[in-house]
Amino acid sequence: MRKKFDFYETPHWQTDIIWDQLKPFIRKDAVILDCCAGENAIVNRLLTAMAYEFDPTGKLQYYPTILSNDIDKEKVTDLHYDARDHQLYDRVAELWGPVDWVIINPPFQSPLCMEILDTALRHARVGVASILRLSFREPTQHRHPRAEFLECNPITQLITMSRHSYDKTGKTDSVTTEWAVWDTSWMGDFPQSILSIPKPPDKITKTRYNKRNVYAKTWTRTRKASFELDANHADTKQ
Ligand SMILES: C[S@@+](CC[C@H](N)C(=O)[O-])C[C@H]1O[C@@H](n2cnc3c(N)ncnc32)[C@H](O)[C@@H]1O
Repeated sequence: MRKKFDFYETPHWQTDIIWDQLKPFIRKDAVILDCCAGENAIVNRLLTAMAYEFDPTGKLQYYPTILSNDIDKEKVTDLHYDARDHQLYDRVAELWGPVDWVIINPPFQSPLCMEILDTALRHARVGVASILRLSFREPTQHRHPRAEFLECNPITQLITMSRHSYDKTGKTDSVTTEWAVWDTSWMGDFPQSILSIPKPPDKITKTRYNKRNVYAKTWTRTRKASFELDANHADTKQ
């Protein structure tokens, strides 16, 4: 049985893979949006990864704005819009400035997934990075056709990853996914590439990133507390 709103948490190692790829292209003051943020797995991991980027003088290199949105109002996110709705991007622009990057693990159902991506591609000034099933690239003809979308929005970079069981049972939803990256600036800054990157051994992930997790947990607690304090945080729309 599928979960409410198709909520499945993105494992840290998958976010680490996209961060390592995008790091050179993300400006230090970028506005980044996860418009399907769920419980902020991607947002937290990006924040912690950025917190570990220092310049040679030991100063933090990144001060990006990383924002979260989810249609599910039970999730602790900055906004609660339907990610297909252009008003989400208008609201972000009004409050924090135009979105540069959208980095997401969207629900995989059709045509919802394509519609969320379509809205993101129209608004992100620099790029969109999304986890997708490999089959998303099939130009399906009949039900929910994607051929036109795929033709009009050529993918710049693909990073195929090891298979992952998103429901953690190892049974259902064990699918091969990949990061697809679109260069929405059309400046050609971003090199075209196709990569395959396996899941790193657990030992490496745990030791290399243990400290980052501490930062993520603190950030989540602080953010949750500030939401609870502000009972009038009613910036909601579907
Ligand atoms: C696969 S989960 C990913 C959650 C999170 N980004 C992560 O990495 O753990 C997809 C999320 O999209 C949200 N969602 C589903 N439909 C949506 C929509 N139309 N607009 C915004 N969020 C949506 C769900 O509530 C769910 O939390």
